[in-house]
Amino acid sequence: MNDKYIRTIETQNEQETLALGKFMGKVANPGDTICLTGDLGSGKTVITRGVACGIGINEGVTSPTFTLLNIYYGHIPMYHFDVYRLESPENVLDIGFYDYIGNDGVALIEWADLIEDYLPSEYVRLDIKRDFETGNDHRMIDIYQKGEGMKETIDALERWGNEHDHISS
Ligand SMILES: Nc1ncnc2c1ncn2[C@@H]1O[C@H](COP(=O)(O)OP(=O)(O)OP(=O)(O)O)[C@@H](O)[C@H]1O
Ligand SMILES: [Mg+2]
Repeated sequence: MNDKYIRTIETQNEQETLALGKFMGKVANPGDTICLTGDLGSGKTVITRGVACGIGINEGVTSPTFTLLNIYYGHIPMYHFDVYRLESPENVLDIGFYDYIGNDGVALIEWADLIEDYLPSEYVRLDIKRDFETGNDHRMIDIYQKGEGMKETIDALERWGNEHDHISS
């Protein structure tokens, strides 16, 4: 995908990924877009649950697999997309994609790589990877940025990475 590599963050278990999401949710601003890529079961929904918690959503966040979009309300709205089952990328237009993106809430898009041509000009992307050699619960999360926006999110991820990681860029 056509975006700029920022750094890599490691998590050792689900709780740590949740905490990372929560940290991001706390600094999320209306209009932000967080793209999530990575294989089935990598942790995209776990990150989303963390973000929800950070923006004060008390409801349980589930995978919107069959609905494509779930909307939650915390301090700001959260638009949770999962485009895995879209028949074709242009079908995002049928669900009013651009009514939600860059608007009054934060948008999270699972499987964002499947709709690459439809993504906005500014977003932060977390690409989550498992490495079975280092254990089932270990994740490498590569952070990318498109455009120059979402400075607070980038700063938060840098802070988190510097405090929790052995890796830096
Ligand atoms: N470090 C970790 N971070 C996140 N999840 C982890 C971690 N270690 C283990 N897990 C487990 O991995 C699974 C991640 O599931 P999750 O539903 O978030 O994946 P997903 O990427 O959303 O998958 P899908 O593509 O099916 O939507 C959960 O069962 C979680 O408990
Ligand atoms: Mg999911």
